[in-house]
Amino acid sequence: MRLSLSYALGLAAAAVAQTNVSSYIATESPIAKAGVLANIGSSGSLSSGAKPGVVIASPSTVNPNYLYTWTRDSSLTFKALIDQYVNGQDDTLGPLIDDFTEAEATLQQIDNPSGSVSTGGLGEPKFNVNETAFTGAWGRPQRDGPALRATAILTYATHLWNSGNTTYVTNTLWPIIELDLNYVADNWNQSTFDLWEEVESSSFFTTAVQHRSLREGIIFANLTGKTSDVSNWETQADSLLCFLQSYWNPTDSYITANTGGGRSGKDANTVLASIHTFDPAAGCDDATFQPCSDKALSNLKVYVDSFRPIYTINDGISSDAAVATGRYPEDSYYNGNPWYLCTLSVAEQLYDALIVWDALGELNVTSTSLAFFQQFDASVAAGTYASDSAEYSTLKSAVQSFADGFVDIVATYTPSNGSLSEQYSKADGTPLSAYDLTWSFASALTAFEARAGNKYGSWGAAGLNATCSGGSGSGGDTVAVTFTIDYDTQYGQNLYITGSVSALEDWSSSNALLLSSADYPTWSITVDLPASTTIQYKYLVIDGSDVTWESDPNNAITTPASGSVTQADSWH
Ligand SMILES: *[C@@H]1O[C@H](CO)[C@@H](O)[C@H](O)[C@H]1NC(C)=O
Ligand SMILES: *[C@@H]1O[C@H](CO)[C@@H](O)[C@H](O)[C@H]1NC(C)=O
Ligand SMILES: *[C@@H]1O[C@H](CO)[C@@H](O)[C@H](O)[C@H]1NC(C)=O
Ligand SMILES: *[C@@H]1O[C@H](CO)[C@@H](O)[C@H](O)[C@H]1NC(C)=O
Ligand SMILES: *[C@@H]1O[C@H](CO)[C@@H](O)[C@H](O)[C@H]1NC(C)=O
Ligand SMILES: *[C@@H]1O[C@H](CO)[C@@H](O)[C@H](O)[C@H]1NC(C)=O
Ligand SMILES: *[C@@H]1O[C@H](CO)[C@@H](O)[C@H](O)[C@H]1NC(C)=O
Ligand SMILES: *[C@@H]1O[C@H](CO)[C@@H](O)[C@H](O)[C@H]1NC(C)=O
Repeated sequence: MRLSLSYALGLAAAAVAQTNVSSYIATESPIAKAGVLANIGSSGSLSSGAKPGVVIASPSTVNPNYLYTWTRDSSLTFKALIDQYVNGQDDTLGPLIDDFTEAEATLQQIDNPSGSVSTGGLGEPKFNVNETAFTGAWGRPQRDGPALRATAILTYATHLWNSGNTTYVTNTLWPIIELDLNYVADNWNQSTFDLWEEVESSSFFTTAVQHRSLREGIIFANLTGKTSDVSNWETQADSLLCFLQSYWNPTDSYITANTGGGRSGKDANTVLASIHTFDPAAGCDDATFQPCSDKALSNLKVYVDSFRPIYTINDGISSDAAVATGRYPEDSYYNGNPWYLCTLSVAEQLYDALIVWDALGELNVTSTSLAFFQQFDASVAAGTYASDSAEYSTLKSAVQSFADGFVDIVATYTPSNGSLSEQYSKADGTPLSAYDLTWSFASALTAFEARAGNKYGSWGAAGLNATCSGGSGSGGDTVAVTFTIDYDTQYGQNLYITGSVSALEDWSSSNALLLSSADYPTWSITVDLPASTTIQYKYLVIDGSDVTWESDPNNAITTPASGSVTQADSWH
């Protein structure tokens, strides 16, 4: 058989790119691993001042100052390290992982501008590296942090439990996990800042990782017999999965990153969500936007294409080849440039897809994913292609080359010492913004693992039913809840209530709702609250500027699916 010239040239280019990519990975892997470890206190060589187990975002202290610890970055980084540890790839990491869980247990308890541990403080995005609160202005809360932390620690806890170390899991790890998952269950339906800390609304990445965390929490609770929270977590996980579907834009076939923000919604947020909720056992499931699902592939193409016209370094690259990608096309931070971790996330999603197609021995082209696959074969039709078919081979090797192309872009713009900054210039590819960004290094490690075909634990994504059933709090239904409390007030005092949902003014004391004293000493108020939702609240006594809160813990109510209910409380 004679190959056409262009096909032969294509193969040659693919071979060169693969060689480049393999040799880049061989060099960059140990640099990325060392880069991550250098940024973890207290012994990391660049982590000066960080307490043990605290992950700094970057050693950079000026332009920008990233010498802080973010719950999101830290948890994603430690998830990668914990995966290596539990899979026997690096047995030395145990003590460092123990430092991390201890540090996070400490950070959970620190009062901060988002609140205390029981009043919303778990949603605080970042702390000082000496484990004190960061009190400056910031985009808070960010509700993905507790979910990502729970996911990382659940992976470790499952490993220890299955190794017989049940005492440590029960006494030390479970309390951390349970706090985070109850925070997710109680607060997921509140607005949040997105992972880029800019848009306050609902955010696909946040919803997706929250959903994952509850599902794996349920599996873990089942494994360990710690089942008291499970029925609430199941209810909330079903509602989260239902809500997750609403980000899909069926007209333009992509996932809208945020419900607010006034942008196109094309955003690496969605690609990162897909790779960080990858479950190799879930096939190409659409409901959880698995990496090989038709929705996630269509979304990937729309996201990538949005960067083709806007970066000079992408000029002249053909429309079916890899390009540099960043956070979102409207980005103006540092003038809007590609980010290493975003470009690598594209490669990782594609490598994840290849893992699943190979395992299942087939791939599907659907009307939703047709445009994605037509990049590689303009004449491909919708259908199922078995692994022994010519079409499967064509598409598989094209996707592999496409994926390698994104790593090759990163390789091209990595400085010779292997350092990965946050960004690289859209004009000429030189590194920009914070240097040695921990998350950039971690994203290289996970993309390289995926390329090598390594896959990690499932979290229960397989076979979930995303049907939005009535009564799961999914329709925005509300129920009328009447709160009553007996209280003997002094002259000038009034009773108020506030709590964890907007209908209860989101824990605001200044906007707390005034109860009626018409039946004094019984005070009461009727509020429409979200159905089938666990809501926390407290009463306050206010007299002018004197505000007295009930003491901890919060009161909680799980609202019914419909109807009305009266909740009679006494002050504590
Ligand atoms: C491979 O790497 C070399 C040197 O780093 C570069 O000049 C070349 O363009 C790369 N080839 C491909 C196909 O990316
Ligand atoms: C912790 O770090 C912050 C920020 O660098 C600093 O302002 C504060 O004084 C430190 N606190 C302690 C107790 O070291
Ligand atoms: C359980 O794991 C913890 C954390 O690594 C360790 O400190 C402890 O010694 C282990 N206990 C047993 C019995 O192995
Ligand atoms: C809360 O959930 C409802 C139902 O899924 C949804 O319509 C609403 O947008 C959600 N709000 C937030 C802030 O998550
Ligand atoms: C809980 O455990 C039981 C028994 O091991 C199993 O049959 C069931 O599928 C598990 N449920 C979940 C949600 O993991
Ligand atoms: C392809 O589609 C069929 C029919 O919907 C489904 O059963 C199968 O799991 C899909 N395979 C993959 C790899 O997505
Ligand atoms: C690596 O190279 C970059 C760009 O040349 C430079 O900014 C950075 O300081 C270097 N890092 C180290 C650790 O030498
Ligand atoms: C999913 O749930 C809905 C409503 O609860 C039900 O009607 C439907 O049969 C379920 N689908 C599957 C595949 O289990």
